[in-house]
Formats: sequence, structure tokens, C-alpha cells
Amino acid sequence: MPNLGALREEYLRGGLSRENLNENPIEQFSTWFQQALDAEIAEPNAMTLATVDPENRPWQRTVLLKAYDEHGFVFYTNYESRKAKHLLTNPHASILFPWVTLERQVIINGIVEKVSTAESLKYFVSRPFSSRLGAWVSQQSSVISSRSLLEAKLQELKNKFKDGDVPLPSFWGGYRIKPTDIEFWQGGAGRVHDRFLYSKASNGNWEIDRLAP
Ligand SMILES: Cc1cc2nc3c(=O)[nH]c(=O)nc-3n(C[C@H](O)[C@H](O)[C@H](O)COP(=O)(O)O)c2cc1C
Repeated sequence: MPNLGALREEYLRGGLSRENLNENPIEQFSTWFQQALDAEIAEPNAMTLATVDPENRPWQRTVLLKAYDEHGFVFYTNYESRKAKHLLTNPHASILFPWVTLERQVIINGIVEKVSTAESLKYFVSRPFSSRLGAWVSQQSSVISSRSLLEAKLQELKNKFKDGDVPLPSFWGGYRIKPTDIEFWQGGAGRVHDRFLYSKASNGNWEIDRLAP
């Protein structure tokens, strides 16, 4: 095994202070997201999504953020996938943006609901032909015997939808995570990092606390 104990970086990009924080966490997220784009980090909208199964076991996977605003954070997936089954019995989810090259992470917890069919359709038709077919090809998370099954299915679908008009599958669409807690983490020198947690109060306002690193 390589000497993992010796792998250590000092986080020197600069701290995060209460006075520089936006009172609104969505606007704060927007600022950081733009900075992630400007820094040209790979897949800045890739996020780890955690869900919980009926036995209370957490599961994680990467999905892509496709929209965000004050109503929440949207990703698209298969409504019959493992994650979808978890969300049916437990709508709590957690997402994490691992913007490690910026010495940052953002963690968002919330309650998930499906987006409207109209919203899913609007996004679906904006996807390239291959991605629209991709949504049809796979019964996501089911056990399959070989890759060739998928390739045969893809060929069949290419013929079926050769005019390019691919309908929105009823089993595919978006979820919106309506945030209840949003934490911004910025690495600091000597492992003295900055963490700020925005929590949604019952009156709908966001409260901000500094957390120990
Ligand atoms: C960079 C990256 C982006 C991904 N984006 C998505 C996505 O937006 N939607 C999706 O359903 N799966 C996406 N996946 C695949 C998921 O990680 C996962 O394999 C799939 O959704 C099945 O998860 P589940 O079995 O837990 O439901 C992505 C994987 C990677 C590595």
C-alpha cells in the first residue's frame, strides 16, 4: 500500500468569514458554483447523493445537478432505480459537492420530491438523441446477465425512434431536493477549517451557525 499517512495538503486558499457569507444559502451556493465553473474543475455539477434504504442503511452514488434555485436542487434519474425505491419509503436525502481542488465541500440535506412531468419533459427534450435513448435502454439498478443485452436493446430503440422523436419515458424524470440544511466548508491552514451551517427555521428563515472543524 502507498504511504497514505504521508499524503497531506495544507489548505491555503483562504478562509470563509461570517461577514462575507451571503444571508441566503442559495446565493452563497451560486457564488461558489460560479467559482467552481471558473476554476474549470472537472464535472463541477457532479454530486454524491445519499439515500437510506428500508433497513436504515445509507447508500451513495454520483448524480449530476441539472438545476437549482430557491425551491431546491434538481437531478434526473430512473424512477424505478434503487435510489428511487429508497426515496419512496424515505424522502430524506443528502448531497455533497466534493470541490476538493478548491479546498471546499458543500453538503445539502433535504426532503426530495418528484419534479412535474412538464419540467422533466422540458429537460428531456434538451438532451442529445443518445442520452434520450439512454434513458429508455436501461432498467437502472436491475441485475443483468451481460452488456450485449443493453447493446441489443439500444439497437432496437435506435430503429424504433429513428425519426429522432424520442418520447419521455414514464419511468424517468427529475427529483428536487428541498433543502433544510446547507453547510459550506472551506479548508484552512493547520487544519483550522471554516464551516458554516445554514438551517431552515420553522418560519422559513435561514439561521447561520459556525461549526467547529
Ligand atoms: C460522473 C457521474 C455522473 C452521473 N450522473 C447520473 C445522473 O445524473 N443520474 C443518474 O441516474 N445516474 C447518474 N450516474 C450513475 C449513478 O452514479 C448510479 O450508478 C445510478 O444512478 C444508479 O444508482 P442506484 O442504483 O443507487 O439508483 C452518474 C455517475 C457518475 C460517475
